[in-house]
Amino acid sequence: MVPPTGSSSTEDLVTEVLQTLSKTDPILSTEAFAQVPFESIKAALDRLASRSMVTYEQVEREEALLEPEAETIVSHGSHEARVFEVVRKAMGGLSIQQLEKEVGDKSITKLGSGKAFKEKWIKKDGSSIVALVSVDSINDVTREQLRTIQEKRTHEPKILAELKKRKLLKMQKIISFKISKGPKFALEMVKEETDLTAEMLASGSWKSATFKPYNFKALGAEQHAGALHPLNKVRSEFRQIFFEMGFTEMPTNQFVESGFWNFDALYVPQQHPARDLQDTFYISDPKTAGRPEDVEYMENVRQVHQNGKFGSIGYRYPWSEEESLRLVLRTHTTSVSAAMLYKLAAENVGGRVPPARYFSIDRVFRNETVDATHLCEFHQVEGVIADYGLTLGGLMEFMDIFFGKMGVTNLMYKPAYNPYTEPSMEIFSYHKGLNKLIEIGNSGMFRPEMLEPMGLPKDLKVFGFGLSLERPTMIKYGISNIRELLGHQVDLTAIQKNPAVRLDKN
Ligand code: PHE
Repeated sequence: MVPPTGSSSTEDLVTEVLQTLSKTDPILSTEAFAQVPFESIKAALDRLASRSMVTYEQVEREEALLEPEAETIVSHGSHEARVFEVVRKAMGGLSIQQLEKEVGDKSITKLGSGKAFKEKWIKKDGSSIVALVSVDSINDVTREQLRTIQEKRTHEPKILAELKKRKLLKMQKIISFKISKGPKFALEMVKEETDLTAEMLASGSWKSATFKPYNFKALGAEQHAGALHPLNKVRSEFRQIFFEMGFTEMPTNQFVESGFWNFDALYVPQQHPARDLQDTFYISDPKTAGRPEDVEYMENVRQVHQNGKFGSIGYRYPWSEEESLRLVLRTHTTSVSAAMLYKLAAENVGGRVPPARYFSIDRVFRNETVDATHLCEFHQVEGVIADYGLTLGGLMEFMDIFFGKMGVTNLMYKPAYNPYTEPSMEIFSYHKGLNKLIEIGNSGMFRPEMLEPMGLPKDLKVFGFGLSLERPTMIKYGISNIRELLGHQVDLTAIQKNPAVRLDKN
């Protein structure tokens, strides 16, 4: 016998199946392994079938199951037989009340006597009931039928129907496996080799070894390969567009900047609200940067802020070198653009500063209250074009082409203000899904107050633009809360599952 629980290992069960099958073929799982759980027997059979040691098919059939009342009939006889027995023993007959008393159950008496009258085993003689036949001539058919069913779990359909109507049994659906010997049937499971090894070749044991066949239907283990974060995917799309359009990438690995490069070089006055503590993170240790090597440039910046220079009247306030040397977490990558343009000013190609196109995509930090669309840090996409004869119309055309490559069309522009650009424009696009105009970027022509202190020629015009990487990513990936994109609420499974390629370009 197989243990009644699923505790026997598949290994044991496999041996059990083979041994049972060697004696009888075929076997029914519900008969031979009545107590083994369905899943366990299936696992064992699958293992054997994969080696052609057995074949099996699932069969469904109905079994008759005795109700408790029927069990009583099997052990004590049918109602009518019990009634007859009492009447027969009473010899001279007995009244209904006496019969009830002797049988001990009113309803058994009622049902049983009815049937016994019909079978002509008993009859009424005045007020008493008497037996009509002798013991051996009565045949307790019901009891016999139920006994057969108890043993075989089935009977002729007519009989089953009749007993079912009398509520003595119910039918139950049984799923079992019909198991037969397979072409490679054996009493033991041979170890199957999964690899052909050098040792097997050397010893010649490969000749008699059994090799496990390839399972081409197997799904294979899940590959936990790296997955790109949506921000990374959109980032590489932007990078690709920049490269296509002739840009070179700026080095942005320096998150800490001096106020000088983050603000002063960009002609952001020292009283500007963006420089307040509630907007900018200041570094406490160390607090300040060293003085820049190019004192002349710094002096130019001081003058253009304080008294005006290069044809500008300036802001006219006392500019503080100390303030400009305070260290900050960069609030935009325009600080990097400024440093790159400063370097560009020193270049000379064919007797002039060459045109240039720079871009970067990296982190910036702002002291924001965190909500569904704001974090203290985000990624800024930034582009700068320096060339001779650039116009505002050229910037708008460039934007159309640039965003068009991302699938963003029908741009609209709104005048805006940045201390470092004039004119400045916010860029909007109508978003069909959200059914509204959304701001997608900020742009402008860099001011002479920013470019000329660096030594860039007057006729070299520079335009720039910036946008967050998070916003287009959230729109493209249908993310409504920025905290699902960055930080500890990010669902790694979602990142692993999101498609490698989006087909939303057109
Ligand atoms: N620095 C701007 C921002 O953070 C973007 C910008 C870059 C605007 C260059 C104009 C020119 O929004």
